[in-house]
Amino acid sequence: MKNFLSHLQCTETGEIFSADEPHGLSPNAQKVLYPRYDLEAAKGSIDPYSFLNRPRNMWRFFELMPIRNEENIVSLGEGGTPMLRAKKLERKYGVRTLYIKDEGVNPTGSFKARGLSAAVSKAYELGLTKLTVPSAGNAAGSLASYCARAGLECYVFMPNDAPEANKKEALLAGAKLTLVDGLISDAGKLSREKAIELGLFDVSTLREPYRVEGKKTMGYEIALDLGWRLPDVIVYPTGGGTGIVGMWKAFDEMEQMGWINEKRPKMIVVQANGCAPIVRAYNEGKRFAEPWENASTIASGIRVPSAVGDYLILDAVRESQGTAITVSDDEILESTREIGISEGIWAAPEGAATLAGYKKLLRQGIITSTDETLLMNTGTGYKYMDVAMPV
Ligand SMILES: Cc1ncc(COP(=O)(O)O)c(C=O)c1O
Repeated sequence: MKNFLSHLQCTETGEIFSADEPHGLSPNAQKVLYPRYDLEAAKGSIDPYSFLNRPRNMWRFFELMPIRNEENIVSLGEGGTPMLRAKKLERKYGVRTLYIKDEGVNPTGSFKARGLSAAVSKAYELGLTKLTVPSAGNAAGSLASYCARAGLECYVFMPNDAPEANKKEALLAGAKLTLVDGLISDAGKLSREKAIELGLFDVSTLREPYRVEGKKTMGYEIALDLGWRLPDVIVYPTGGGTGIVGMWKAFDEMEQMGWINEKRPKMIVVQANGCAPIVRAYNEGKRFAEPWENASTIASGIRVPSAVGDYLILDAVRESQGTAITVSDDEILESTREIGISEGIWAAPEGAATLAGYKKLLRQGIITSTDETLLMNTGTGYKYMDVAMPV
């Protein structure tokens, strides 16, 4: 199948780099690199409805993925997750349309599978053999699983209080696991040191250009499932922000190819009140976020004190006329119970945070009862039994 990958581009300076050699951040500006595609050519050659005839996983968007040769795809069947109408919650809150996109059904139990399938596929295509990642938990398990499948060596660094399931799944898949007495930012420092010492390639969130391409497929899927249009509001639990910026990138690509119009959902960032660097920067009108001190929340995936893609997240929120909001751990647990009892989904605490945020914004009138809203449940609650038990 033809692929339209063209080059990498610095999101801050516009400088261009090759997509056929390994890259991290853009070398001069130290900012995020995005893969770019020949969208004019793609527009002329892809019928967007043809995706409906392909297997329901994220690789059905292969033409717009960063892999040149289909044989290099490393997949466990990620993506193609259901967008479920939350009818009981609609009735409870008197709203017209509420969806939950359930990323918990992905391989390794979270949406991290999308990003790591893309990143490991590209690493494999580029001939890299040893990968490393700092992780709040889920990314480590995903990287380990895809590396196992591709036959690559995998190093993972995570906080020692990360969920047990994340540690076990990484070990099961043969990763070299180092537990760090600290947060993901401390794990990141150690991972980067080890990368230099041992010649490992660093696939940290947005420091590597291809994870975001896996995450962007959530944006393509939402549009495809709605017949090439988008909801009014998307609520996203934000740590490093790859998902929110990935979907934002997808919307831009789809518009350039004429698949959707210019109408965008309001992009809503939800963070925990014990770790809310993006919310603080949003409220202070800043484009770059100061690191959060003493970060703490049971939603380990959003316990991210600083994000290298802060400016991309904040740009998406502001350009979409969205907003950024915090929720407490108690509100997260309460919302986990609510999603379980009303919709039968055991959401990850990060996913439940989106319902907690949604309820607040409804009360404040920032989201209205007629807004078609989508909550991203980014993972399964099964993985958090030791750290965030809702019952
Ligand atoms: C379940 C879950 N939700 C949300 C996030 C945050 O994702 P992002 O880095 O895209 O903001 C993570 C990251 O670890 C996660 O594991």
